Amino acid sequence: MKNYRAVLVGTGGIGEAHVRAVEFTQGRVSLVAACDIDPTRAQDFCAKFKIPTAHTDYASMLRAEKPDIVLIAAPPGLHAGMSIAAMEAGAWVMCEKPLCASLAEFDQIEAAEKRTGCHTASVFQMRFASSNTHVRSLLLAGTFGRPLVAVCNTLWFRDAAYYAVPWRGRWKTELGGPTMSQGIHTMDHLLHLFGAWTEVKAVADTLYHDIEVEDVSMALVKFANGARASIVNSTLCPRQETYLRLDCEKATVELTHLYAYKQENWKMTPADPATGADLTAAWEQFPPDVGSTHGAQLVTLVENMDHQTTPLTSGAEARRTLEFLTAIYKSAYTDLTVKCGSIQAGDPFYTALNGGMAPPRVKK
Ligand SMILES: NC(=O)c1ccc[n+]([C@@H]2O[C@H](COP(=O)([O-])OP(=O)(O)OC[C@H]3O[C@@H](n4cnc5c(N)ncnc54)[C@H](O)[C@@H]3O)[C@@H](O)[C@H]2O)c1
Repeated sequence: MKNYRAVLVGTGGIGEAHVRAVEFTQGRVSLVAACDIDPTRAQDFCAKFKIPTAHTDYASMLRAEKPDIVLIAAPPGLHAGMSIAAMEAGAWVMCEKPLCASLAEFDQIEAAEKRTGCHTASVFQMRFASSNTHVRSLLLAGTFGRPLVAVCNTLWFRDAAYYAVPWRGRWKTELGGPTMSQGIHTMDHLLHLFGAWTEVKAVADTLYHDIEVEDVSMALVKFANGARASIVNSTLCPRQETYLRLDCEKATVELTHLYAYKQENWKMTPADPATGADLTAAWEQFPPDVGSTHGAQLVTLVENMDHQTTPLTSGAEARRTLEFLTAIYKSAYTDLTVKCGSIQAGDPFYTALNGGMAPPRVKK
């Protein structure tokens, strides 16, 4: 099996998770260089994690290192351009969320995938825990019965220091508030478990933080399987929690955590204690526990590269989540129910996540 050479761009807060991800591949991937426009940050990071070469210019790094994999952990506004440049240089990409600023940008990434034969996978590490694979297979096999109702809450808190970083809190550079930046993980997880959505009605507001983007959004969703879901995304909740709850005919399935989870974070309650024993027996067949880490996702990307298959969070799956988030903003800023498939080229929300319709920033 081929071993892959990776480079990292962006050596800030989440950079270490990418270093740990490379370690998790147990030698299948080696990190040969890292890049940051802040030279001290790049050098300190490379010294700390024993990465051979520090760069300060992304394009030069691509030319010099000729990597197989590019790990993108720079601010969101740069993701689409960096992903396309990496694929044009012959590399596959694992890019931090949010992958890009609009469906139009997503379509450009997909065009580059077709042109180059490389792929860009959006980081959605919640999908890759082994416990999730188990729960999802039970759900798809109908073990819990028909999915009926879901609750999907990202109740997080971010302080003023967090939003003082210049790229955060702005449409152009962060690309959105807790819908696009934080809740994106659990909403993507919900879509992974419940499948195709058909319509959404949402609100978004800036209630607490002095930022341009929203700090809370709430949505009501209908799925193709008939199920309904309610969603809250926020960065103003002092007691933080990530909560995903699936109520099906035969059981309630719950996942409670904050930024990462393992098997112990799941709970299943059978509807009928008389038939619950079978359900419990199926539930308890968890595989060896691999948490929802960047490493778990990178291992699957390596498998995709080995077999030249499309990563789980590229293409249609990644587009579905981005379209869903775009629909939340469109519904919030137009007061309409937005149907899946309705945001096409020519719609202001196709080229800008907020359709240019977010209310102007009000100084508090
Ligand atoms: N998957 C997750 O759980 C998770 C968690 C946190 C952050 N993130 C995402 O990771 C990304 C980075 O977030 P962060 O918190 O690490 O931000 P950060 O501000 O701490 O780090 C970003 C780094 O990118 C560097 N940078 C800026 N422009 C650059 C350029 N042109 N070339 C090279 N480097 C450049 C900055 O100097 C900085 O060091 C964001 O998209 C964020 O949403 C994901």
